Amino acid sequence: MSEASAAAGKIALVTGANKGIGFEIARGLGQKGATVLLGARNAPAGEDATARLRDEGLDAHFLAIDVTDEASVAVAASHIATDWGRLDILVNNAAVSLEKNVPPSGTDLALMRQTYEANVFGLVAVTQAMLPLLRKAPAGRIVNMSTGLASLTLSSGRDAPFSFSRLLAYNTSKTAVNGITVQFANELLDTPIKVNAANPGLCATDLSSGKGRPPSEGAAVAMGLALLGEDGPTGGLYGDQGQVPW
Ligand SMILES: NC(=O)c1ccc[n+]([C@@H]2O[C@H](COP(=O)([O-])OP(=O)(O)OC[C@H]3O[C@@H](n4cnc5c(N)ncnc54)[C@H](OP(=O)(O)O)[C@@H]3O)[C@@H](O)[C@H]2O)c1
Repeated sequence: MSEASAAAGKIALVTGANKGIGFEIARGLGQKGATVLLGARNAPAGEDATARLRDEGLDAHFLAIDVTDEASVAVAASHIATDWGRLDILVNNAAVSLEKNVPPSGTDLALMRQTYEANVFGLVAVTQAMLPLLRKAPAGRIVNMSTGLASLTLSSGRDAPFSFSRLLAYNTSKTAVNGITVQFANELLDTPIKVNAANPGLCATDLSSGKGRPPSEGAAVAMGLALLGEDGPTGGLYGDQGQVPW
C-alpha cells in the first residue's frame, strides 16, 4: 500500500489521542505536516498531550470530545467547522476494553453495553457528525481502529489464533466496527472519501496492560490508511502485513 499523498496542509482529527496509539497517530501525522486535532474526553490529559506535540514543533490543537456524548460530538464538529471549515482525515481511535478474561457465558451485559457505547455507537456518532466536514475536503479519509481479534476468520474454530481470547464485548464490538467500515465505504463509493479499518497489532498501551510492541509501530498502520492516495483501497481491514481476513 503506498502512502501517495503528503499530510502537509491536511486537517486530521484523532479521537482518544491523549495517550497510546492515538497519541502516536497524532504525532506521526503532525510530523508529516498535518494540522492535528487531538480529541480527548479528559481535558487536562488532552491539553497535556497537545502541549507535548506543540513542544516538538507540531501544529497540534486540543479538541474536547467524548464519543459517547452526542452533545460533545456535535460541539466538536461545530468547532472544526468554525476554525478549519473542513476535515481531511478522521481517525476513529477512541475505544475501551473493559473485560478481564471472562468466557462469553459469563460476560456482564452492562459492561458489554458500555463497551458498545464507546467502540460502536460512539464511532458511528463521530463519523456521522464529521462526514459533512470530510465531504468538504478534496479527498477525505476515515480510519477506524479495529483489531485482528475482530476477525471472524481468525477467531473461528479450535485452531484459530484468537479462538480463546475471552473478550466477547471488545472483540465483537470491533467486528461491528469492521461491518460499519464496509457500510460507510459503500455509501461513499462514488465520492473521493475512503473508509478503512486498521489492525495495529498488539501494542504496549493501557488497553493491552502494557503488552506488545511500541504504539508508534501500530500507529504507522493507521497513518498509511489516513494518507492513502486516490488509487488506494476502500472498505478493507489492513495490518502491517496487508489485508486481514474478515
Ligand atoms: N493496544 C493494542 O494492543 C491494540 C490492539 C488492537 C487495536 N487497538 C485499538 O487501538 C485503539 C487505541 O487503543 P490503545 O491501545 O491506544 O488504548 P488506550 O491507551 O487505552 O487509549 C484509548 C483512548 O481512547 C480514549 N477513550 C475511551 N473512551 C472514550 C470516549 N468515550 N470518548 C473519547 N475518548 C475515549 C481514552 O481516553 P481516556 O484516557 O480518557 O480513557 C484513550 O485516549 C483502540 O481503538 C483499540 O481498540 C489497540
